Amino acid sequence: MEIKNKIKQLLKDKKTAAPRILVTGGTGYIGSHTVVELQQAGFEVFIVDNLSNSNIEVLNGIEKITGKMPVFENIDCTDYVTMDRFLSKHEGIQAIIHFAASKAVGESVEKPLLYYRNNVVSLINQLELMKVHKIKGIVFSSSCTVYGQPDVLPVDETAPRKTALSPYGNTKQICEDIITDTIRSSSELKSIILRYFNPIGAHPSAEIGELPNGVPNNLIPFVTQTAAGIREMLSVFGDDYNTPDGTCIRDYINVVDLAKAHVISVQRLLEDKSSENIEIFNLGTGRGLSVKEILTTFEKVNKVKVPHKIVPRREGDIEQVWANPTYANNVLGWEAKETVEDTLKSAWKWQKKLMKKQKNEGSCLS
Ligand code: UD1
Repeated sequence: MEIKNKIKQLLKDKKTAAPRILVTGGTGYIGSHTVVELQQAGFEVFIVDNLSNSNIEVLNGIEKITGKMPVFENIDCTDYVTMDRFLSKHEGIQAIIHFAASKAVGESVEKPLLYYRNNVVSLINQLELMKVHKIKGIVFSSSCTVYGQPDVLPVDETAPRKTALSPYGNTKQICEDIITDTIRSSSELKSIILRYFNPIGAHPSAEIGELPNGVPNNLIPFVTQTAAGIREMLSVFGDDYNTPDGTCIRDYINVVDLAKAHVISVQRLLEDKSSENIEIFNLGTGRGLSVKEILTTFEKVNKVKVPHKIVPRREGDIEQVWANPTYANNVLGWEAKETVEDTLKSAWKWQKKLMKKQKNEGSCLS
């Protein structure tokens, strides 16, 4: 049975209220897409976000898609007292999906303490508050960055973690360890750690999508902004890697597919489906694509040109990584379904919609 129907049936049978889920960082890129999927699956969603890398207008997009405005408060997750007050006010939250974190690799090298505070302190707060407010489960956003350059590809969950190349990467490893130690110390808590590969694309409605502040660091927003003429030229970071066309290879996963994995994970925690108190899953497609392949496909499916030039390698980039998602496929019953063609179309549709909106509002991105 589909999750949506399952939850509806559950509510009907038990005549209970919709399960309440806290989504930290719920106005961010992956967070907002997850909120949509949660609401469409019948959950009652509560968002806290400090809007440090997102816009309050995202809430309107969520409402347009789902017909429901989630509860939102502008709270910084590193603020224990305010988070505690929030959880006392909204009783009965059963699980947390913890997205709130800083994620720019380069910035983390310049401001390591900001990253350790934002990413590590906020996680510790959530874990402490789970005990206080009797919240059972936490789904944590981790990253394939914990594998570094894997020795074996595709990489599965048993692969060793490599020394992190940035404070950002280190925070993901530290957070995974903090969760593992905490869960082991308490039989009342459960967690699912999701290691994302490269999330891209936007909701098919183009009501929500990726909206980085300032100049994008990641490939796809830079590609869409270059195609739109906002950026003059995309720099391809190196074509002398040991890959078929010389450019880096990544596992690009559709953001809505990724969001759906969170709904399944939360459901799994609430229904006590696993005998393990902590589980780790790779979320990827199982297919690696090079930067050049992404560019060619983007140009072809969207019929636009992306001016680009080859520049030297970016420091800290991994040559190639893609997932073995078999464990998630088998255990979660989840699989990345969208094609990269449709995903790249959705990214362009979102960019065009953004430009139209900004034109109407008389503003521009720079
Ligand atoms: C990085 C992080 C990852 C993090 C993610 C989200 C590492 C090794 N990876 O992923 O942990 O979760 O960001 O922020 O720290 N590229 C260009 N030109 C550009 C931008 C990117 O050629 O202007 C190339 C990169 O060299 C890379 C690919 O595109 O090969 C993807 O880059 P990006 O989107 O930044 O993601 P990652 O570096 O893979």
